[in-house]
Parts: sequence; structure tokens; C-alpha cells
Amino acid sequence: MKEIIEQAIATIQANDQGSYTVPTHGLYPFQWNWDSCLTAIGFAHFDVERAWIEIETLFKHQWEDGMVPHIIFHQQNDGYFPGPDVWNTGRPVPTSGITQPPVAGYCLKKVFERTDNQSEYVERLRSLIRKIHAWHQWFYQCRDPKSEGLVAIIHPWESGRDNSADWDEALARVPTDGLKPFLRRDTMHANPEHRPTQEQYKRYIWLVQRFETSHWNNAILHDRSPFQVVDPGFNAMLLQSISDVGSLARDIGDIEIANACEAMFNKGIESLETLWNEKLGQYVCFDRVTQMQINNASIGGLIPVLTQIPRHRKQAIAETLGRFTTRFGIPSQDPASTQFERYRYWRGPVWLIINYMIADGLRDGDHDDLSQLICKASLDLIKTSGFAEYYDPVEGVACGGQSFSWTAAMVLEFLDRASEPASAEPA
Ligand code: DGY
Repeated sequence: MKEIIEQAIATIQANDQGSYTVPTHGLYPFQWNWDSCLTAIGFAHFDVERAWIEIETLFKHQWEDGMVPHIIFHQQNDGYFPGPDVWNTGRPVPTSGITQPPVAGYCLKKVFERTDNQSEYVERLRSLIRKIHAWHQWFYQCRDPKSEGLVAIIHPWESGRDNSADWDEALARVPTDGLKPFLRRDTMHANPEHRPTQEQYKRYIWLVQRFETSHWNNAILHDRSPFQVVDPGFNAMLLQSISDVGSLARDIGDIEIANACEAMFNKGIESLETLWNEKLGQYVCFDRVTQMQINNASIGGLIPVLTQIPRHRKQAIAETLGRFTTRFGIPSQDPASTQFERYRYWRGPVWLIINYMIADGLRDGDHDDLSQLICKASLDLIKTSGFAEYYDPVEGVACGGQSFSWTAAMVLEFLDRASEPASAEPA
């Protein structure tokens, strides 16, 4: 156990650039939004001050409208495509122009709970709460134009689950005409069989070019995008972050923010119900362009156990997880479906951050055994296959990039859980 802890810490430290962490060298040489926040949870195990800095650095690059970009290009590096010149967002420190799953509030709460000298961090906490709250408000202003209580993503990269089968139909509508020629770099760092296809990449880049010609004006991007999808997992992460920011705000007496969070949360949880699919026993995505549910069983519809969905929904998802789960945890796509691909990024592989968020949500008194099972499966995976980006759910083969920061961070959390007494109260 001591050895794994040391390896996990060394992995994070090797990716540490001082005030931010790269997900891994080579494949992802900048700061990524949700990678950073989840990595901060890992830092909090051995250097809590550094955990705060990780989140603070990200929020230094928040846009004036509240949006927090998915990549911050802190330094020049030609090893990644699409770089700052393609995004052309005109920021003082270049950033991408889209966002990523909003887990900052969720992670900040965990970092704060691990902070021993909390009173010394109250002002920094207050400042981050305001910034994260502004980001959450931005989502409902710019990605929920009809005030339905659910936010849409306008690019598959925003979901963090880039090539999920959830996007297949909506992405097929994205044209590729007029696309400027481009050279992918990801396939030079990782096995192309583990990465999205060239056809998908063309559409990813077409969308970037489309938004660039709209000058990254978030007031119009949602309606101008041919890709508008409501992802239950994304919305659940947002809702849990809202709930966590609300509870932190209440703790420090910021009642206005706390009450605003409560109202946002209640509306969001109620709206999430419209994404339930009884046949699949899980939530599903909704295509805002066709106004149809997307009939696909992916991890996106199981992630909502992370937040306070109704008890009977949690129970139903726990049962569905029985169908999904392999001895290495939870595949990103239903293994019984025709779209399942065991090595290809978000079309099948197990991701430790997903195992973690689901296991965390199942620590509710009713499903603690399942939660512990996922925790154990995750640790077994690390012992056999190291700190990879993701894993083949059938044999546990390491896939994508290696020496991954957020994988290491999750290992530190899982090891903590594994050492808890079996009858521990839910957190
Ligand atoms: C990539 O480049 O693969 C990322 O997922 C986009 O953020």
C-alpha cells in the first residue's frame, strides 16, 4: 500500500508544472479544466496548499462572462492539436473557447474538508465560491436559453467523453465542408486504435471553426451550433457542484449564494427526471435539435448517482450497474451494446474518475457494498496496469496515455476508502 501511495504521489509530481498540472506529458501538455480539479483532490492528500493553487490557477483564466475554458495554454507546445492559433480566442493567456464538466465545486469541497487549518483559507474559499458560482450561472444563461433547468453541451469535447456513442447521431449532422486541412497530434502520442476516429475529428474541428467565426460570443453559440445535446452525467456533475458550493457558502455565511444554489439545484434535479429512460433503467441524453431522447446506454446516464436523485432512481441505477460492471469497474458504454469497443476511449474503456464518482455517489447507506466493490476493482486495476489514462474493461489492459494525474489522484482517494472500516457512515 505504501508503495502505491508513493507511486501515485510521484505520478502527480512528475506532471506538476508549479501552479498547474498537465494530465500527462506529451498527449496533453497544458492545463485541462476537469483534470485539474480532480487532480486537486489528489494533491490534498499530501500538499493541501498545492491543491488550492491548482483550482485557483484554473479560475484565473475564467472569462468575463463566467465561462471557464476547457484548456489553458500556459506555454507554447506544438505537440498538441488544436493549439491556440486554431481556437483564436484572443485571451491574454490563450485558452480554448469551450468548457468542460463543471466539477470544480465538488472538488473544492473535498479539498476544503482535507484542509486542517480551514480558518486560514476562508477568504480564498469565499473568492473561489464566487467564481465557481458565476460559472454555474453562466451555464444556465448560455446553455439553457429556454430556462428548462438542463444545460446543453455544444461540442463533444465539452462532455469530456469525446467519442461516446451518445453523440453519434448528433455528430453525424455536423458537416465537414469548408474544413481547413489539419494534422492530428494525438495519434502520435497514443495508439490510434484507442483514440477517436478521423471522421469524428473532422467534425470536432468543424465545430471549433464554426464557433471561431462567431468570435466565441456565448450569447449566440448555443443556437448557432448544429450540435446541442443535454447529457445527464454532465448535468449531474453541475448539480452536485452547485449543491457543494451552496453548502460551503452557507458554512461561511454567504446566504445569498447559498439560497441561489438551492434554487438552481431544486430546479435542475426536477428537470433531470425528464431524461429518465425506463426501458434502459438509466438516464439518457437528449438531442435538443431533434427534441428526441438518445437511445443509448452509456456511463452518462449512470453518473447521476453522484448527486441527490430520488432514491428509487438510485436503486434502479444500482441494478443497471450490475449489467455494466466488469471486474475492473464500470465501462463507459454498455458492454452488451453493438457500439461497445473495449479499447476506444469513451466507447467502452473504464476510467478511474468515473469509477470514483459513481462509487462516491453510492456511499449512501443503501449501496455501500457496491461502492466498496468498485473501489476494490479500481485498486486491482492499478496494481495490474499502472496509472493509465483508461483501461480495457475486459482484461484490464492499460490504454491511451500513461502516468495520468487524475488516475493517480483517484488512487489516493480509493486507498483511503479501502482503509475505512466496512460499517463506516456515509460521508
Ligand atoms: C483531446 O484533445 O483529446 C481532448 O479530449 C479535447 O479536450
